[in-house]
Amino acid sequence: MNATTIPSNGSNASNATGANVPGTDALLCVEDLQVRLPGLPPDQPILDGVSLTLQAGRTLGIVGESGSGKSMTALAIMGLLPEGARAGGRILLQGRELLALPEREMQTLRGNRVAMVFQEPMTALNPVHTIGNQVAEPLRLHQGLGRRAAMAEACHLLERVGIANAAQRLSAYPHQFSGGQRQRITIAMALACKPDLLIADEPTTALDVILQQQILDLLDGLVEEHRMGMILISHDLAVVSEYSDDVAVMLRGSVVERGATQAVFARPQHAYTRQLLAARLHMLEPHVPSAEEQAQERDAAAGAAAAAVWEAEQGARAVEPGPDVDVEGQP
Ligand SMILES: Nc1ncnc2c1ncn2[C@@H]1O[C@H](COP(=O)(O)OP(=O)(O)O)[C@@H](O)[C@H]1O
Ligand SMILES: [Mg+2]
Repeated sequence: MNATTIPSNGSNASNATGANVPGTDALLCVEDLQVRLPGLPPDQPILDGVSLTLQAGRTLGIVGESGSGKSMTALAIMGLLPEGARAGGRILLQGRELLALPEREMQTLRGNRVAMVFQEPMTALNPVHTIGNQVAEPLRLHQGLGRRAAMAEACHLLERVGIANAAQRLSAYPHQFSGGQRQRITIAMALACKPDLLIADEPTTALDVILQQQILDLLDGLVEEHRMGMILISHDLAVVSEYSDDVAVMLRGSVVERGATQAVFARPQHAYTRQLLAARLHMLEPHVPSAEEQAQERDAAAGAAAAAVWEAEQGARAVEPGPDVDVEGQP
């Protein structure tokens, strides 16, 4: 990775074997992650004390307002921080410290053990390559499959994520698919090497509500089927409450609250979580109109009814044959 590792001020010393270190039985354990970017004052870290735990077969939701550091956390785990970034703390994947890994090893890990699905599928797809080649490529690269076997597996993956007539569409290009289908294709690519950890960063924000649910249901099923761990990043509390077992709430680069989703949403401890939930509830609450609003609504309804009657009359007059029109003579 590009980032330089700086010493953690956390209490746990690094341990190469991962033995006797708290949280190492987890699939992913992020401890006191700090990220500083070049050009910003050292006392203004982009991430400041992010701690997360994720078990295999479970989904961890990350919520928080825009700019709170959700994507930066994902990029740190993927080893894809911006050039010159400095990272501290620890990121343990199956007990293995990722921040200390050389870029070459991190590359092997990406696409093999960890994969990511982005908000905008075109960022992950190459417009000039067929989707068959793009899904098959990681299979050839990381799993050493031959061209024919990789293509057969790509076809199977595309079918699995719900691309109809996958065999006939292997030679199609990304622009020949809809937004929802493109997101399914990137999910097929992410799954190609059966990753242990899948990070989905706002995977459905660009899609309409029906597609959103289909994609989230698909991801949810895949987590169970492959016993992956998934990090589901979303600004949508409803999405996180439905699809995440656990949740972490981020605010200005830190995790301010985390725990089982139901418990956090039922009994939020941090003022910011309460604020987020209140804003969400306010949006869902049925609006009870005041007496004045009710009177205005009645007036508006009466006006609309009068206008409808007037329009109907006008319409009737327009089609009524005048005395000098010979209706039957019209073609
Ligand atoms: N490449 C970058 N260079 C400098 N600052 C960045 C860069 N990317 C993100 N940031 C800043 O880092 C903070 C966290 O951003 P991000 O993780 O993208 O937030 P989120 O995903 O929660 O909306 C924000 O203040 C953002 O402006
Ligand atoms: Mg983001």
